[in-house]
Amino acid sequence: MINNNRIGVDNDSETVTSNAAQPKKLCEYLKRRKVMCITFIIIVLAIIITISIVIVKTKKTNSEQTSTIEETTIQITEKIEVTTESPTTSTSTTTSTTPSKPKFNKWKQNASTVAGGNGEGQQLNQLYAPVGISIDKNKNIFIADRLNHRIVQWKYNAKEGQIIVGGNGQGHQMDQLNEPTDVIVDQQDYSIIIADQGNTRVIQWLNQTQQILIHNIVCYGLTMDKHGFLYVSDWEKNEVRRWKMGEYNNEGIVVAGGNGQGDQLNQLNNPTFIFVDEEQSVYVSDHINDRVMKWRKDAKTGVIVDGGNVNQLFYPQGVIVDDLDQIYVAYSGNDRVMRWREGKEEGETVVGGNGQGHQSNQMFSPCDLSFDDEGNLYVADEWNHRIQKFEIIL
Ligand SMILES: *[C@@H]1O[C@H](CO)[C@@H](O)[C@H](O)[C@H]1NC(C)=O
Ligand SMILES: *[C@@H]1O[C@H](CO)[C@@H](O)[C@H](O)[C@H]1NC(C)=O
Repeated sequence: MINNNRIGVDNDSETVTSNAAQPKKLCEYLKRRKVMCITFIIIVLAIIITISIVIVKTKKTNSEQTSTIEETTIQITEKIEVTTESPTTSTSTTTSTTPSKPKFNKWKQNASTVAGGNGEGQQLNQLYAPVGISIDKNKNIFIADRLNHRIVQWKYNAKEGQIIVGGNGQGHQMDQLNEPTDVIVDQQDYSIIIADQGNTRVIQWLNQTQQILIHNIVCYGLTMDKHGFLYVSDWEKNEVRRWKMGEYNNEGIVVAGGNGQGDQLNQLNNPTFIFVDEEQSVYVSDHINDRVMKWRKDAKTGVIVDGGNVNQLFYPQGVIVDDLDQIYVAYSGNDRVMRWREGKEEGETVVGGNGQGHQSNQMFSPCDLSFDDEGNLYVADEWNHRIQKFEIIL
């Protein structure tokens, strides 16, 4: 290689010397050089022009591509909106394509108190053993303030609540309640439905008017489905029944339990809170049996979905299922909220699990659970007399 190079250099110098020796040829050489120079300049100019044209073109195509991406995103969003409107279409397939939808995954472990937290009492900024909660679209919180015998509403970011029903002592008069355990808000007509357990009745308040929907039931948990049914758990008869909303002049039908007190798969033992999914499967916190059951629509027996913590004194209370079929359970017996999947033995702690206490990462008998539209998790922290909000980590 080195040799070849040397040879090359020698050849070049030879040509130069031979040109310089003949003046005619030198003249021709200079002419040629001029021509070469001009050609070179033309070529360089041509290259510069071509490059700038190419740059402008690529910029254009880039912006065109971005706009097509934007268009497809808009189309995807429209599709999702359509699917969420119709309850029959499954949203699970479209969920994966939604980048903006908050994934229910992790929450800050230190909660903020959004209602109560000022000790046990009956002032408007206090609660006394709250159990059931509901959050409406505007993040207003409705609370079954059990031992104050009232339903209170804490508007979003409020420093104190307003009494919606009761608050006139324990009793069965129109303006009284007796240890209400749960409350749900019907977003359609803004009526509220109350499990007035101590008075063994389910009542509805609509436009300042009370109506008794169901008599003689030791009700505990309430829920509604999208098909217009109301579900009520019966603490004493160990069953869950449902009624078509607006048609309460009948016994309703049993959708879980109803085979006496016991721990067989077709029985319950003091059911508390309930949840109904899109397929009308009923999830029940089977409190004394220390398990959460799922009863599919029309099933004669239930399935244990929280691993079956028999006799561990976890005492499940609030139960809620997210769009990904993950089951969240509040265990009043060991002060934490856990997450399960049907068919999986292992669950995971979502919040709490730091012992019983009143620090922001602790609870004392967590009861009902609720999510707001953004996926923040609310827990009725019964014996701390407060409602805790665990913010979702996006
Ligand atoms: C409440 O009832 C009153 C009197 O019947 C009626 O005028 C009013 O429109 C009702 N309000 C709502 C929100 O239904
Ligand atoms: C959460 O609360 C616990 C108990 O009060 C405290 O020790 C910890 O520092 C807090 N963590 C954060 C991130 O604030």
